[in-house]
This record gives sequence, C-alpha cells and structure tokens, in this order.
Amino acid sequence: SKRVAILLSGGGSNMVALAESMTGDHPARPCLVLANSERAGGLQKAAARGIPTAVVDHRPFRGDRPAFEAVLNDRLEAASPDIICLAGFMRVLTEGFVARWQGRMLNIHPSLLPKYRGLETHVRALAAGDAEHGCTVHEVTPALDDGPILGQARVTIEPGDTAETLAARVLIMEHRLYPAVLRRFAAGDRRPVFLP
Ligand code: GAR
Repeated sequence: SKRVAILLSGGGSNMVALAESMTGDHPARPCLVLANSERAGGLQKAAARGIPTAVVDHRPFRGDRPAFEAVLNDRLEAASPDIICLAGFMRVLTEGFVARWQGRMLNIHPSLLPKYRGLETHVRALAAGDAEHGCTVHEVTPALDDGPILGQARVTIEPGDTAETLAARVLIMEHRLYPAVLRRFAAGDRRPVFLP
C-alpha cells in the first residue's frame, strides 16, 4: 500500500481523521507524523495510534528555510513516503522543497480557494460578508495555497457566526474532506471531491 507522511504544527485533528481513515481496504497507510515543534499536540495523538513520529524544530534555523528543509527532507526520505499530507503545517515551504515532492504533496486550507490564501481565513470571510465558506484540499505547488484543487467542502455562514463558531463548522468538514480526497488520490484518481 501507499505510504503517507503527515506534517503538522498543532493539535492534529486532521491527522487523526486521516490516520483513522487508513484502515481495511484503504490504499494507503500512515508511515510518519512529523511536527516542527515538540509541543504540537498531534504528536501524542499519533504515538497513541502507533504511528512513528519525528520533530524537526524550525527555530534553531533562525529563518534559514533551506537549512530547515534539508533536515526535514532527510527525515521524510528516511520514511520513504509516497504521499505527503500537510495537515495544519504552519511553515511556508520553498520552491526547492516543493519541487522535490511535487505531485505527491497535498495541503488542506480553511477557505474556498482561490479565496483567502494565507492566514485568518474565517475572519476574512466574515468581514467580506460572504454567504458561504469552507475548505479546500489541493496539490502543493510553489505558490502559497495554490495548485490543482482536489476537493472542496462548503459551509453556510449563519447570522451570529464568529470566527470561532465558523472555524469549528469548517473543521468538521475538513475531517470529512481530507480523508475522502486522500482515498481517491492514493488510488491514483485526481478528480476533485466536492462536499457536501
Ligand atoms: C486546520 O483548520 C487547517 O485547515 C489549518 O490549520 C488547522 C489545523 O487543525 N491549516 C492552515 O491554516 C494552513 N495554513 P488541526 O491541527 O486540528 O488539524
């Protein structure tokens, strides 16, 4: 089966959704969960599920992204993943690193791309008065939050929504979308998934 490495920076709820989907006849299995901080809550959740973990702390590299990524790349290559899933990984990756894994690296972003690349997506969707919001899984290409769309899930913005209430509803959809996209992608099918 295909080997999947998952990169994260935070609590790892998307990693859990991905890992729990990779059972039975699923064409992939998790081979590594890697974080850029030992404080990332997702590390314990991965270890509790028997998934190998690694940490490459970005801070000692003091902004030298290529040096950070050289170590990151070594750790990844040691796990020989076929697919890399970015799941709340909050480091911008350079063109060189992206090129190394292009066509095999996916990202989930909490907006309906091409709207709201970057941070604070929920705040920005609310401030714009949008009727709907959501999340996108896409192939990673050198431009930030760009690349072929592999799936999108929509969420209706309700009166009284705050960034927090909206983020929580989007996150529920992320947990459905990312596993659905990964299952297709791991089977070699790049047609996009649209939810609900
Ligand atoms: C998710 O909402 C994900 O879409 C977002 O971070 C959160 C991680 O949550 N990613 C980005 O903002 C990428 N720039 P999780 O750690 O619980 O999966």
